[in-house]
Amino acid sequence: FTIHTETVSESCPSNIALIKYWGKYENQIPANPSISYTLNHCKTNTTMEFLADEPFSVQTFLAGNEEVKFAEKIEKYFKNIEPYLSWILKGKYVIRTENTFPHSSGIASSASGFGAIAKCLMKLDEVFSGKNSDEGSLKKASFLARLGSGSACRSLYNGLVVWGESDEVSGSSDLFAVQYPDAEIHDIFKSFNDWVLLIHEGQKSVSSTVGHGLMKSNPYAERRFQEARENFVPMKQILKDGDMQSFIKLVEHEALTLHAMMMMSDPAFILMKTGTLEVINKIWDFRRETGLPLFFTLDAGANVHLLFPDNGSEEKIKTFIETELLQHTQKNGVMKDIMRF
Ligand code: PMV
Repeated sequence: FTIHTETVSESCPSNIALIKYWGKYENQIPANPSISYTLNHCKTNTTMEFLADEPFSVQTFLAGNEEVKFAEKIEKYFKNIEPYLSWILKGKYVIRTENTFPHSSGIASSASGFGAIAKCLMKLDEVFSGKNSDEGSLKKASFLARLGSGSACRSLYNGLVVWGESDEVSGSSDLFAVQYPDAEIHDIFKSFNDWVLLIHEGQKSVSSTVGHGLMKSNPYAERRFQEARENFVPMKQILKDGDMQSFIKLVEHEALTLHAMMMMSDPAFILMKTGTLEVINKIWDFRRETGLPLFFTLDAGANVHLLFPDNGSEEKIKTFIETELLQHTQKNGVMKDIMRF
């Protein structure tokens, strides 16, 4: 190296899946394709300092505090991706990272975290190789992020993003994510709210690594993978037509199926809390009574992502959330994000 030290900084948002990824094969190959919305506000900001004259090691700071466990995870990850970045084990890294959203809030910090790290690595690669960033470097960042956390590969792109091979999405791949074609998306889906209700702030009772693993012995797994693949057919039509009622039905079905899979695992997991169920029932009552498009999705946890369009007609929905749903959260916790592209 002619360079002794180099510092790069990158920011990457989190994402929320509409068709869920749950179950994978060797080398982070997803068992089915998934599609997500990339958030606009919930981000990880990361600064990576590379010291070329030092032996390989990783030091990490999360919001200013040294995190040894996280450093071990990143060290393992860097060793894993050496075949794709030949220089990666030739120096010391000091990584400082912070999230713009609360820890264990049900917003995937692994997605934004690995997204930001992959972007930093590609920036370093450009410095070392003298190349400028292009389409290829974004694709490679998505590829590298996937090897850290599967869903992270979707965070490299804005808007609606697909990861996993699907006949319905041209260019889609198991190895990296692609942006869903803008021309195929009805305007109603280009500005959407995602308000995350913080129902329960404690540690998740199942990590996603364990969760994906449980699908290996789940007797319903193959049918589920097939269903997710099939769901891309109506999803494509829905996105094109702006068919909100079908969108709501499909997105809620996907969330409940993810949780049903965990309930049918051995050992079984119930990741919803009382508050989760109370909120879901209230949303369904509200929709029955008003016909307004407020609906939910869930990640592998108790918190509820409230989804509703952002087209000027959502005042009633916002009032309902504030007066009826916030009481089911811990400390009136809500993270208001938006997907706008
Ligand atoms: O990226 P992982 O391995 O943490 O898996 C996350 C899976 C879900 O968030 C539950 C669903 C998804 O598609 O994002």
